[in-house]
Amino acid sequence: MPKKMDRSLHLIVITLLLAFTVMAFQSELTTVQPKTMPLVPMMRVLLSDMYTIDEGIYTEDFAVIEKGGKSIAEHPVMTEEDKKLVKNTLGEEMQRFISFDMVVHRHADSIAQAAQQKKMNDILHHYKIVQQGCVDCHTAFRKEISKARK
Ligand code: HEC
Repeated sequence: MPKKMDRSLHLIVITLLLAFTVMAFQSELTTVQPKTMPLVPMMRVLLSDMYTIDEGIYTEDFAVIEKGGKSIAEHPVMTEEDKKLVKNTLGEEMQRFISFDMVVHRHADSIAQAAQQKKMNDILHHYKIVQQGCVDCHTAFRKEISKARK
């Protein structure tokens, strides 16, 4: 094989390899893989998201409110270990647990949307529902799950 062709072949192979690497990297980035987190640290994050929303409300910074609302709406899922613990502890009641979680998700998303539209009253409306959702789940299940963890 002439030397010149050999070199250009090399170049083509290297270019292709590079392209594939970039493609593989991108697809990894775009695959929606829900992040997982143990339950207690996740709850601490939710608490700090509520602080963020509060700060946005009192400083009338809608971007900050949106950030907090989004973060709650897209919160990570429990690790497999914690999911098992909760399922085994709650049994049939698991449905109710999930429904509290869904209320929080849905209305946190509504907070973010209301923030985009700069509608403070709507934000407060959904904020109260989120807060109620947090507290409802705690009242119903927190002690039981905390105890099961020990
Ligand atoms: C679907 C049920 C559920 C919802 C909804 C929920 N929590 Fe929790 N939360 C729990 C459970 C269960 C625990 C106790 C976990 C444990 O101790 O093992 C907990 C514990 C906590 C703790 C204490 C963490 C610690 O350090 O011990 C905080 C803070 C908290 N949640 C904040 C929130 C906030 C803020 C929201 C709403 C935005 C919320 N939670 C919504 C189930 C829920």
